[in-house]
Amino acid sequence: MTGLQQLIRVLGETGCRPCGMFKTSRTVKCPGEGPRDASIVLLGEGLGADEDALGRPFMGRAGQLLNRCIYSATLLRADLYLTNSVRCRPINALGSNRPPTHKEIGYCNGFLQDELDHLSNKRVIVAMGASATAALLRSAAPTGGVLENQGKVLWSERYGCWVILSIHPALALRRPADAEWLVDDLVLAARIAREGAPPVPKVAEVLVVRTWEAACAARDRLLGAARLAWDWESTGVHLTRDIGVCVAFCMEPGKATVFPRYEGGLAPIWSRAELRALDQEILIPLLTSDVPKVGQNAEFDNAITKTTLGVAVRNIAGDTQVAHYLVKNHLGERAHGLKRLAVRYTAYGRYDDPLDAWLMEHGYTKDGKPDGVFMYKAPGATLWPYNGTDAVVTFEVEPVILEMIDAAGLRGAYAERLRFGANQGEMDRYGVRLDRPRLDTLAEDMGEAMAAMASQLEQLAGHPVNPNAH
Ligand code: URA
Repeated sequence: MTGLQQLIRVLGETGCRPCGMFKTSRTVKCPGEGPRDASIVLLGEGLGADEDALGRPFMGRAGQLLNRCIYSATLLRADLYLTNSVRCRPINALGSNRPPTHKEIGYCNGFLQDELDHLSNKRVIVAMGASATAALLRSAAPTGGVLENQGKVLWSERYGCWVILSIHPALALRRPADAEWLVDDLVLAARIAREGAPPVPKVAEVLVVRTWEAACAARDRLLGAARLAWDWESTGVHLTRDIGVCVAFCMEPGKATVFPRYEGGLAPIWSRAELRALDQEILIPLLTSDVPKVGQNAEFDNAITKTTLGVAVRNIAGDTQVAHYLVKNHLGERAHGLKRLAVRYTAYGRYDDPLDAWLMEHGYTKDGKPDGVFMYKAPGATLWPYNGTDAVVTFEVEPVILEMIDAAGLRGAYAERLRFGANQGEMDRYGVRLDRPRLDTLAEDMGEAMAAMASQLEQLAGHPVNPNAH
């Protein structure tokens, strides 16, 4: 046992009375383990049965999964310091594991603080799960669920290092695909340990078109693009009713052009005649041009194009959401959203944070979380850079995902999916045209086949069979 571990054990055994958990734990007070000069600290919740029996953190199933994540992030467990928010095993009345209460976390916090203060070289702590976040950040812990906060990086004055909010490996035991988030966070931790700080998010260069001359110049430039990413912000999420508030295009990495149709809250920017001209002479020619277009959930933006401009987008050649789903379909639904793709594959990070903060501040929330349906109310200074970055991220992630598609040999399947998406979009909007004569023929064929089957059954059964009886 190292000096540090001895210290913690002594501290624990002398000072630890109030929560009473030590009475039910076998190995009272499991200290953290790892080198004292570790630059990365992993903070868990509390002990399970294995840890309690062995007196070492992360030795059970969650620990094994954590080991695999550490390995996937090309780190070595021996280089990391692993510890827990509480030092005993919280159990329920049936003797099974349970999360520690806030009180228990509070009682144990002095030991955790002492332990962390002894780690003189720590640069980043990965808070794995809600208990770890509560133990480290106390009242400063952000609102929202673990998955929502996963990947956030905060500076801790108290500990003088960075804190990454991540998921607990036990969550990934239940939802194996979520292990990817933990791996991502460990990779980020390694980067912070190396560079001393989290990467500064890149900011896209966003040109906002506010004059007729600028609109014409931007249209002419964009019509010369080899490929265009496009993205609408609209008044909601109803495919057949929403109106586009602003639309962004990207034809080269890092730069976007945003055409606002309205200011925040649908305040007019243009006169009615100007808005009509913008739609007819700028936006329709761009969206119906031959230039290949790529969207994120392109059929949604196609639907907004139709409700706003009355035309369908021509030559949709890519859809980053469809593509990502195809190569990463083992991940949950949340993994394919643009914000996720941005964090994972680009340098723009959580560029939606300012918009989310605005929504929260102005009470546009649902279940305590920012409600994106109301983003059209945000002022242009918040909404337009967001819209532009959406287009830039779509443009930049497409080649990354296409490379994965090619590596997996899924180009053909992707082309099929894109075609299917376009058809489905048409069906959503216009319904389905039924071929009545063909259906009649099919019904007749099926009737004949059923009659033949019934007579075969009669032969087998040796008595009459009523094909309509169940
Ligand atoms: N879960 C934790 O949070 N910590 C451990 O040490 C083991 C499982």
